[in-house]
Amino acid sequence: MLILLSCVAPGGHSLQTFAAQQRPWLRNAPASSRSSHLAALAANTAFAEGTSGAEYSERYGNKAPALTLQAPSKINLFLRILRKREDGYHELASLFQAVSLTDTLDFWVEGADSSKPICSMEVSPDSVGRAGIPTDETNLVMRALKLFADKTGTKQRVHCRLHKNAPAQAGLGAGSSDAATAMHAANRLAGFPATQQQLIEWSAELGSDISFFFSRGTAYCTGRGEIIENVPPLPDTPCFLVKPADGLSTPAVFKQLGLNKGQSLDGPDPRKLLADFQASVTGGTFLNDLEPPAFAVMPKLDKLRMDLKALGFDAVMMSGSGSTIFCIGRPTVAGAAWKEDIVQKHGASIFEVRFCQRSPNEQLWYNEA
Ligand code: C5P
Repeated sequence: MLILLSCVAPGGHSLQTFAAQQRPWLRNAPASSRSSHLAALAANTAFAEGTSGAEYSERYGNKAPALTLQAPSKINLFLRILRKREDGYHELASLFQAVSLTDTLDFWVEGADSSKPICSMEVSPDSVGRAGIPTDETNLVMRALKLFADKTGTKQRVHCRLHKNAPAQAGLGAGSSDAATAMHAANRLAGFPATQQQLIEWSAELGSDISFFFSRGTAYCTGRGEIIENVPPLPDTPCFLVKPADGLSTPAVFKQLGLNKGQSLDGPDPRKLLADFQASVTGGTFLNDLEPPAFAVMPKLDKLRMDLKALGFDAVMMSGSGSTIFCIGRPTVAGAAWKEDIVQKHGASIFEVRFCQRSPNEQLWYNEA
């Protein structure tokens, strides 16, 4: 059980740590993350053991899972909304980047038994916001497992235990990532009956952001967001995610944009934005067309953004439909006091993360060599 990020949360200045089996990312993690992780492990051995993948499961007791995978989050380095379509969705163009704020998913598999459900899930006791996370068909993980079974006709029964670390309603795609991870896991446990392209197409039926997580980790996404084009990985770049206590509803933010069906939104050519980011991350144009409507829905979010901007990062922008604001680079102010100031003033949580990639081997998932 190892760490991939550090987090400062409201209500205290202790560094909390998350996630299981993060060896490669830990090696790449900043020294501050590593030391805070070690401090937390020393202070809380039970937590460390509790996320090892071998602890008690509601359904399987201490039986080790057949597979444990990490589900990363994402940020949008730019997000252009191009127009509102006749079906009510918005045509967009965005550069998605996977980041190392992860949920952990354990999977068990059993053979055919038509008297029992084809899939089930539980949420681990150490999960963030456990009480509010459903385990029925309203959870995207359950919908992904059911969809996979329907499409492939597999009779294998899969049980998932979710260790939730990444916040919801944050613009970080964590629920979508969990769903993609569950689909990959079900396919892998069944011996890969489906191609990755099929998983991409099927997952688009569940949500616009899920397909991205089947990419290599850096992708130019168009359509509703479900058409993915892998682009070369970006250099390792310092990044902080700042998540206010309140979340934002994606439909509410799109609605606030106020476009009529067929109406376009003017702005820079997204292909040009993409080329600029590929030349230099910090030289890119950080533009998110959903910022104005999100700030209209949650005015205090703009105040958080302005306070972060004043700290001198290379870039500060909202991710997706919010409410997370991400900061690229490092603040010009010395020390870590800025984190405490932001936590206290805005009630936000701060996660220090890295950009992450997925192996070119499609049979492997994130953080697997
Ligand atoms: O596809 P997903 O279920 O994630 O979308 C949630 C909601 O966000 C949609 O019902 C829609 O209101 C809005 N949305 C949109 N255009 C997109 C993606 C999402 O209008 N490209």
